[in-house]
Amino acid sequence: MVLNSCGPNEDAQSLDDTLFEESTANGLSYYKNGDILEAKAPSPHGSFKLAYNDVAAQALDSEGELPVGASFPKGSLLVKEVYKDGQVTLIVPMKKDENNDFAGDGWLWGEYGPDGSVVYSVGEKGKSCTGCHGGSPNRDLVRTYDLH
Ligand code: HEC
Repeated sequence: MVLNSCGPNEDAQSLDDTLFEESTANGLSYYKNGDILEAKAPSPHGSFKLAYNDVAAQALDSEGELPVGASFPKGSLLVKEVYKDGQVTLIVPMKKDENNDFAGDGWLWGEYGPDGSVVYSVGEKGKSCTGCHGGSPNRDLVRTYDLH
């Protein structure tokens, strides 16, 4: 047995850990000043705040939105913080990383409990996410701007 080998599942697990940490780090900035927004059809996610890391924030225009036809640069992180009764119940990131083996349509996709438990692993390559998010091709698969 080779102790140092990293199988695909192990890789996905450590990437899930990293993505969760980045998604809950201090210093993220917020769309609409961090107001809680109601989910709009066809969203399956529930009420939410939308957070950005610095890389993503730099791609936004003066309205705080990605201009139509533009793309987020590599390293951009968008985090949907899903709220129920004033509490965060789910952390839902998408991170731009086109060359990552786990990317689906250029993004990493995950869902985590507030304690970091994996609800939807990056190892799934966004199979359950990209179909619906693909409905927003002019906004680099980000759906919020045309709905909120
Ligand atoms: C049936 C459609 C649908 C599916 C499936 C879906 N989403 Fe979304 N998602 C939306 C919509 C619509 C929004 C816009 C905000 C809102 O109203 O909830 C959104 C917003 C988001 C956002 C905030 C950035 C943005 O695009 O606005 C993230 C991050 C996100 N979804 C991640 C995921 C992940 C991860 C999955 C798969 C596990 C997923 N979504 C599956 C429809 C979907």
